[in-house]
Amino acid sequence: MTNLHVLVVGGAGYIGSHMVKLLAKSGCKVTTLDNLVGGYRDAVLYGDFVLGDLADKGMLEKLFANNRFDAVMHFASFIQVGESVKDPSMYYFNNVSNTLNLLGTMRHFDVDKFIFSSTAATFGEPKYSPIDEHHPQVPINPYGRSKLFVEQILQDYQHAYGLKSVCLRYFNAAGADPEGELGERHNPETHLIPLILQAASGRRESIAVFGRDYDTPDGTCIRDYIHIADLCQAHWLALKSLLDGQQSQQYNLGNGHGFSVQEVIDSAKRITKREIRVTEAPRRAGDPAILVADSTLAQKQLGWKPCFAELDVILTHAWQWEQQMNHSK
Ligand code: UFG
Repeated sequence: MTNLHVLVVGGAGYIGSHMVKLLAKSGCKVTTLDNLVGGYRDAVLYGDFVLGDLADKGMLEKLFANNRFDAVMHFASFIQVGESVKDPSMYYFNNVSNTLNLLGTMRHFDVDKFIFSSTAATFGEPKYSPIDEHHPQVPINPYGRSKLFVEQILQDYQHAYGLKSVCLRYFNAAGADPEGELGERHNPETHLIPLILQAASGRRESIAVFGRDYDTPDGTCIRDYIHIADLCQAHWLALKSLLDGQQSQQYNLGNGHGFSVQEVIDSAKRITKREIRVTEAPRRAGDPAILVADSTLAQKQLGWKPCFAELDVILTHAWQWEQQMNHSK
């Protein structure tokens, strides 16, 4: 697997930057392409960096003409459900149309291996739990639809053009680089764990719990938090599977254990040993009560096994990162 040249689109973002590090540490040559709308140049710790946008077909042509990529990993997308409802056009252009530009350029240059960041949001309201790959995909917002469209496009491209892909449907990506070099830095931040930790470090006054009247043991929503390092390992194994000749595939990625919002707050209190001010807020539109992944298929076919499944470990690494962010602000 050394001497591989991998293009990481969105390599300056949260998940992409951790992936760049894993690829480089594994001996690959890595090129990051990022428009820096949501990412940070200083998060790209390895390889070459190209500033550019997937809407720019000329830039893509040049990039592929100048490099012989063996595979492409695509992390660049908009990810906020609420925003996607308010401005669907933005989501369809960035998440679908721009991905078509990337796939078109890959075809033109005969690059036929693609790893795609998909999401639990492609399933919509859960019909059963945990959610496996047979669960119906009926997304309930433009964000989820934009990702499902690309999944379906990829199936057609495999049949018609032989472009092989793996779609990885993340549940709740969380945590940070165990070595403390990288972490989550969304702006604005909307995700539960960084918000709780910002409340612990004093960067934020409090954390609001969105609803305590769900049909769950403590009334708060349950999610399947998966450590960023485990997520990246799954991408690495997915890439290997394509290189070994496996056909296109889709996998759900989570730990198979759900934790409630209250349990995450309790874990954060244990780890940080700080006061965390909690306020109550109404339910957030579009939040299902429980989202938990069945990742048996990824475990069987890819040989994937999460190493950091414990919530306290996820919080420990995220806290290490939050303290660095707090000091450097
Ligand atoms: N929550 C709060 N307060 C907050 C933020 C979140 O109570 O301030 C709750 C949410 O209601 C939810 C849980 O914490 O129950 C997790 O929320 P996140 O926003 O961290 O994560 P989501 O489950 O909403 O989002 C994840 C991905 C998204 C993706 C979505 C699709 O992070 O990118 O799943 O289901 F769109």
